[in-house]
Amino acid sequence: MTPSGTTSGGVPGPAGQPAWELLLPAAGAPARRRGRALQEALREAVRSGRLAAGTRLPSTRELAADLGVSRGLVTEAYEQLTAEGYLRGERGAGTWVGGAVRAGRVGAATGTGGAAAAGPGGRDAVAGAPDVRVDFRPGTPDLSLFPRSAWAAAQRSVLARLPHRALGYPDPRGLPELRGALAGMLARRRGVVADPERLVVCSGVAQASTLLGFVLRARGLRTVGVEDPGSPEHGRLFASTGMETVWLPLDGEGLRPEPLAASGVRAVVVTPSHQFPSGIGWSAERRAALLDWARTIGGYVLEDDYDGDFRYDRAPVGALQGLDPERVVYAGSVSKSLAPGLRLGWMLVPEALLDEVVERKRTMDLGNPVLDQAVLAEFVTRGGYDRQLRHCQRAYRERRDALLAALAARLPGTEVSGIAAGLHVIARVPARFGPPERFLARAAEAGVALRSLEEYGTARPSDGDVRLVIGYAHLSPSAVAEGVGLLAGAVGA
Ligand SMILES: Cc1ncc(COP(=O)(O)O)c(C=O)c1O
Repeated sequence: MTPSGTTSGGVPGPAGQPAWELLLPAAGAPARRRGRALQEALREAVRSGRLAAGTRLPSTRELAADLGVSRGLVTEAYEQLTAEGYLRGERGAGTWVGGAVRAGRVGAATGTGGAAAAGPGGRDAVAGAPDVRVDFRPGTPDLSLFPRSAWAAAQRSVLARLPHRALGYPDPRGLPELRGALAGMLARRRGVVADPERLVVCSGVAQASTLLGFVLRARGLRTVGVEDPGSPEHGRLFASTGMETVWLPLDGEGLRPEPLAASGVRAVVVTPSHQFPSGIGWSAERRAALLDWARTIGGYVLEDDYDGDFRYDRAPVGALQGLDPERVVYAGSVSKSLAPGLRLGWMLVPEALLDEVVERKRTMDLGNPVLDQAVLAEFVTRGGYDRQLRHCQRAYRERRDALLAALAARLPGTEVSGIAAGLHVIARVPARFGPPERFLARAAEAGVALRSLEEYGTARPSDGDVRLVIGYAHLSPSAVAEGVGLLAGAVGA
């Protein structure tokens, strides 16, 4: 690329410059970090829309020449981003930004009816990588376990008994019968202080986040703290309400109190029961310290209990909200227990925020669909929800065990953490199978879709180990074993 901005790629960015200029700072990074920096810059350019979907990328040879880097680095960057679904490529035909879903390909080896693992927001579902054989990306439960017949029975029963008047505009907080059923279930299962009057039915943790974001923004807050590492979706959701996010570092126990206090934020989003993505459960001290902080400054905590229902070898840890329902907004959903496509969730709201949250919910959508709410109420009340959790819990434990066994056998020396709960683990593969860029590129070539831990935060360890966030719940035990086998073969283990 020349300074005047003409490039062989020649795609103009929004400011009329060729978009490849965005990559120049990465190309100038120290050699050790250059490959990774290039991947990050390219990923960010796609995420931010500066490289629009459908844009054709220059050939690896052209881009390498424009940027003054080796062709191998560009090839690796294209392969990695293709595996992640940001790019799509046809052998010999070129590489484009974004990808179309190829029905039946992603997750085809999973035995789950083709369920693609995807982060919240559907981004990955749209940009499924073309040649994925086993998809270890976290975020989706096994959709084939959805209890179709029990759900259908609940639907029939609801349609038979619901009076006409129940089909009018609902209470924006949700149907009283569902609020009552959920309050009972959450108090029992998660130890929350669950007053049905303070429970607001919403469209998942995602909407709980935006409702709270709008309310806090209207109160004058401009920033919200998010865990580092954490869920990228938290940042995106709060950003849509006009709030900026501030990374707050975690250690093995939870959020570190000093950086939190120094950050100036007055609200945070956290995942204390099973931190996403590290998988740690916050220690009792850190839970207490967070609540002390909130009380001292009059701040608020959004507790995202996204997979609180899944525990394998440890006693359930009660929700943080149970310790201080006036400072903690608790949010959960059926996205992991039933299906994310239902878009049904709940939040328990401190008294001081309740009217504002309910008014936001009202003006946003006038409440969730009545029939769905009534069916969920029926399903919970008749014991279907507990049965479903028991069933999934058994299946997921078996898949987790299959993953741990396969990693131990095929990638010896791999340390796995965050295994006691949830639908994913962290695997730290020793440097001898790395370095990380090559490991990820080889995995992509072998048709194994992976997410590296670095995608979720700011830490960039230099020990050469490969840190992965591996989602397993949507994969059958044999698909898990096949995926690890493909990985091991690809990296020469
Ligand atoms: C950390 C985290 N929070 C929340 C969600 C789910 O959000 P929702 O309940 O809106 O589907 C997910 C889904 O993958 C998640 O990973």
